[in-house]
Amino acid sequence: PIPKLEGDAPGCLTRANCRSKGAAPGFKVAILGAAGGIGQPLSMLMKINPLISVLHLYDVVNTPGVTADISHMDTGAVVRGFLGASQLEGALTGMDLVIIPAGVARKPGMTRDDLFNINAGIVKSLSEGVARFCPKALVNIISNPVNSTVPIAAEVFKKAGTYDPKRLLGVTKLDVVRANTFVAEVLGVDPRDVDVPVVGGHAGITILPLLSQVKPPSAFTPKEVEYLTDRIQNGGTEVVEAKAGAGSATLSMAFAAAKFAESCLRALRGDAGIIECAYIDSQVTEIPYFASKVRLGRGGIEEVLPLGPLNDYERESLEKAKKELASSIEKGVAFVKK
Ligand code: NAD
Ligand code: LMR
Repeated sequence: PIPKLEGDAPGCLTRANCRSKGAAPGFKVAILGAAGGIGQPLSMLMKINPLISVLHLYDVVNTPGVTADISHMDTGAVVRGFLGASQLEGALTGMDLVIIPAGVARKPGMTRDDLFNINAGIVKSLSEGVARFCPKALVNIISNPVNSTVPIAAEVFKKAGTYDPKRLLGVTKLDVVRANTFVAEVLGVDPRDVDVPVVGGHAGITILPLLSQVKPPSAFTPKEVEYLTDRIQNGGTEVVEAKAGAGSATLSMAFAAAKFAESCLRALRGDAGIIECAYIDSQVTEIPYFASKVRLGRGGIEEVLPLGPLNDYERESLEKAKKELASSIEKGVAFVKK
């Protein structure tokens, strides 16, 4: 008989080696914060993903329930649950990809930076776990404020001597997903046919949709540019206000994170031409972390693509974004160094 796995239902019977050896070949993925508003639908979407053979669900609450529930889905991935810091090692060991949506979410009237005091410590301690137990994994950071939490993770990895900038990605995919949706609405086309690069960071004016580079090539009136920029930059706040105290975007975020994770896994598998926007250690500007288009491959980020030609409005917006980004980054770095 195979040893019982954490997350197996109590008393479950399994023929020798069914679960461990019989798992379809594929990647091992951990979600930290798996019982939360994003974590639960993201776990479900990952359980459906045929590229994944093992899915580890880690949280400080409720993972037994979420794991029991999701493990009944008749898809290939074996699901195991891990609860609390003493099980972080089991959750992380052997993982190829770690997705981190752990932390508190905004309520109306708050900025993402208002989450710093709680989430900085959560991301720091989870990153310490990654450095110890799966230092070669690709890491996707969702926890806000992303503009600061990615530098926090980087500083933790640097301290531990495991930092590989190619493997740490702040997830800004929701900004792209929103931009594609809103631009498609304005153009009256299918959002699946639209591609809007969104660069900079993931908070307010640091979110810079490059509407001059929309595919298919499209011209927008100044009024449309103003409307779209404002809607994309404040998409998160739109959801926070509509949820009226019950949290921030969870379902669209899980969708965006699942798409982003799929790109990471396809790249790890060796698929060519995988391009995503992500917030990364960057030399595209003088700001040390910046979101832009990257080409992903087996080693993580294989190429950071140039920003491309910007119009006057985008250049001015970039200058404003850089100021805010610089201070959010400094805050994250100082948190780990202190
Ligand atoms: P939530 O409160 O519903 O869930 C967060 C989960 O994290 C909870 O289950 C909680 O128990 C868990 N958690 C807390 N401390 C933990 C720890 N030390 N280890 C493991 N798990 C821990 O919040 P949510 O709506 O899922 O949002 C999570 C985070 O994602 C927030 O910071 C939010 O602002 C952010 N977010 C980012 C984006 C983005 O585009 N990057 C989009 C939406 C939300
Ligand atoms: C979002 O963009 O929806 C997230 O960053 C959550 C938030 O607080 O807005």
